[in-house]
Amino acid sequence: MNLIFALLGVFILNTSGSSLVLDATEGREARIVWYGARLQSEDAAQLRQAGFASQSAYPAYGLKGTAATALSAIQADGNHTLDLRVVSVQESEWEHGRRIEILSRDAVYPFTVKNVFLSFTDEDIIETWAEISNLGKKPVELTRYDSGCLSIHVGEVWMSSLYGTWANEGRLCEEPLTRGWKVISNIDGTRNSHTSHAEVMFSLDGKPQENAGRVIGAALEWGGDYELRVQTDDTDYHKFLAGINPDNSEIKLTRDETFTTPRLAYSFSGEGLSGVSRNFHRWGRNYRLAHGDKERKVLLNSWEGVYFDINEPGMEQMMSDIASMGGELFVMDDGWFGDKYPRKNDSSSLGDWVVDKSKLPGGIPHLVQAAEERGIKFGIWIEPEMTNSVSELYEAHPDWIIKAASREPVYGRGGTQLVLDLSNPAVQDHVFGIVDRLMKENPGLDYIKWDSNMDINVHGSQYLKEQGRLDTEYWKGLAKVLDRIRAAYPDLTIQACASGGGRANWGVLPWFDEFWTSDNTDALQRIYMQWGTSYFFPAIAMASHISATPNHTVYRTTSIKFRCDVAMSGRLGMEIQPAGMTDKEKEICRQAISDYKKVRPIVQFGDIYRLVSPYDGKFASLMYATPAKDKAVLYWWKIANFYDEHFPAVRLCGLDPDRKYVVRELNRVDLRPMAIEGKVFTGRFLMENGLVMPASNDVEWSLKSDWSSRVLYLEAL
Ligand code: GLA
Repeated sequence: MNLIFALLGVFILNTSGSSLVLDATEGREARIVWYGARLQSEDAAQLRQAGFASQSAYPAYGLKGTAATALSAIQADGNHTLDLRVVSVQESEWEHGRRIEILSRDAVYPFTVKNVFLSFTDEDIIETWAEISNLGKKPVELTRYDSGCLSIHVGEVWMSSLYGTWANEGRLCEEPLTRGWKVISNIDGTRNSHTSHAEVMFSLDGKPQENAGRVIGAALEWGGDYELRVQTDDTDYHKFLAGINPDNSEIKLTRDETFTTPRLAYSFSGEGLSGVSRNFHRWGRNYRLAHGDKERKVLLNSWEGVYFDINEPGMEQMMSDIASMGGELFVMDDGWFGDKYPRKNDSSSLGDWVVDKSKLPGGIPHLVQAAEERGIKFGIWIEPEMTNSVSELYEAHPDWIIKAASREPVYGRGGTQLVLDLSNPAVQDHVFGIVDRLMKENPGLDYIKWDSNMDINVHGSQYLKEQGRLDTEYWKGLAKVLDRIRAAYPDLTIQACASGGGRANWGVLPWFDEFWTSDNTDALQRIYMQWGTSYFFPAIAMASHISATPNHTVYRTTSIKFRCDVAMSGRLGMEIQPAGMTDKEKEICRQAISDYKKVRPIVQFGDIYRLVSPYDGKFASLMYATPAKDKAVLYWWKIANFYDEHFPAVRLCGLDPDRKYVVRELNRVDLRPMAIEGKVFTGRFLMENGLVMPASNDVEWSLKSDWSSRVLYLEAL
C-alpha cells in the first residue's frame, strides 16, 4: 500500500496514535493532506473524497496573493516571489520512527528548501523543520523563515496558549479561533517564556477539555525570539505558522549557505489537553530534557532564605537544616562572588566569578566538603551570560557586551546589568571557562543554577559584521558553550532560570535538567502557573519550592501543609530560612519530603491527568499515574475559603477500571485519619464517581487556617 501511495506522490508518517499524510508530487508544491488521528491505509487513500483538501506544507510568498506565508525571500535581483516545486523525496527509518525529507526548488532561481518531517512513534510526536539554501552566487535575503505550517480544518476550534509576566508565568488563555490573525510574538532575545510561550494547543471539538476531545499541540523548539501565528480567513482551514521572529533580524544567505530553522514539534491526542501534555512530557523526558530518566534531588535553595546575605556559618546552618529534614542537596544562590567589587546587591560583580573571601574564607571547596559531611550535595548559582558595568570583567572587556554602535549601553537589573555578546567566540570561551573552572576546582559540585536576568535591549553586536544576525548568532554561541559544558561534565545537574520562568522552552531545555518555574513561590498562585506550565513541561522539570509566609512576592499567608502539598506536585524543593521555622513546621516538611520520596518516581516519570482546573472552580485537582496504572498520586487543593461551600466529587483518570486500589493519605496533618484511609475502591468507581474531599483539614486549634489540601496515594492491589 505504501508503495502505491509513493507512486502517487503520497507519503505517510504514522505514530502510535497519529498520522501525517503528505502529498509531494514532483513538479508541484509540497502539501499536507492530513494531520490528526491515526488512519487506516484505506481511509488515508480517500481523504479527498471525504472532503479533506490538501494544503500547502510550506507556503512561500509570491504566487498566492495574501495567503499566509511561512517563507519569503528577496533574490539578488530584487525579485520578491518564490515558486517552490518538489524535486525529490527521501524516506528513511531512524531508531524511534521515520523521516521524510521533501526537497523543493524554485522554478527559476537556484534556491531550495528541504522540509523535514520526523516521527517519534511511541510518543505521538512529529517534528518538522526547514533547511533553506541559496545555491546561487549572489546573496538572497530571507524576510520570513518559519519552521512549518499546519492547516487545521475549521469546526469549533479553540486555541490554548500561555501568557504572563515575571512572577506570573504560564497563565492559561483559552479562546475560540475567529476571523483574522492571532499572533503570539516574543522579542526578549535571551529568554522567551515570561510574557508568552512558544507552545500552543488547538482543541478541535469545541471548548477545551482536559480528558476528552481531539487536540493538536505545537511547540517551537527555540529559546530566542519567535512568532506563532494563526490565520483564519474565508477558507475551510485555519493556518498555523511558527518560527523565529524575523523582526529586527536579517538573514542574507550567501553562496551555498543553508539556514536551518528550529524544530517545530506537533502532537495529536484524542484524549484531550492532558493527552497532548502526556505526549510532550514523555517525549521531553526521553529525548529532550537532560537526564530525563533520573530522579531529581530534594533541595534547599538559599535565595528567599537569606538573599545576598551569604556567609560560611549561615550556609552550613542551612545545609544542616535541609539534611535534617531529609533533603539531598543545598544550593547557594546569588551573593557569593566578587573580589574588587563584592556582590552585596544586584548592582555589581556579574562576570567576576571568584569567591568573596570575606564571606566565604574556605571558598567553594569548603562548602562542597561541608555538604558531603552532612550527607548531601552542593550546588551553586551563576549568571554566566551577563555582566555589570561595575565589574572587573566589564573594565577589561567593554567590547564584550551587546550594544549598538554609536549608542550608550542600556542597563538592566540593578541599573548596571548588561548582556554579554555570545556571538563572539572570546565571550563563548569566557562563559565555558566559568563552569570549567568551578568544576575543575570542585569536582564534587553537583548542581548549577544558571540564571539569565536580562533581555536584549540596545540591539547590536560589537563583534558581528552583520547586525541582523545577532539573535540567531547569540543562540548558536550559547549552544556551542552548552555543548562544551555537557561534553565535559555530563553528570552535572543544571537548572535553567531566567528571572524565574523565562526559560521554560523546549529549545533551551535540552542542555538543562529543569527550570525555575517562577520567582513567585506563593502556593496559591503557583497552582495556576504550574497548571499552565504543565501543558507542555513535565513535573520532573518544574522546580517547585516551599517558601516562607507571608510570601515574599504577594504577601499571602498560607499554611505550611498547603505549601508542601503544592510544591510536592512538581520537583520538590525548599526556598526558605529554616532557622525561622517552628519545630512543627520543620516536622511537617520532614514528613512531606519523606512522603515525596515514596511517590517521586510516579510524579517525576508518571502520566499527568489534570482533573479540575483552578480557572473553573472552587478547587483544583490533578494526578499522576504510572503508565502501568498500578500507582497514582492525587492532589486536591482548595483555592478559596467560604463557609457553606459544597464541593463536588473529583473524578479520577488514568486508572485501570478493573483493578482495585487502596487509598492512603500522604503528608497527613489531620488529628484523625480520613474516612477513606486504607479503603479499597475499584478503578471504575474512582473514575466514574470519584471521591469527595472534606472541605477543611481536621487539625488542632493552633494549626487551623483557611487553607485545605490533600495528597492521596493510590496503589493497585
Ligand atoms: C533571579 C532568579 C532568582 C534568584 C535571583 C538572584 O531573579 O530568578 O531565583 O536566583 O535572580 O539574584
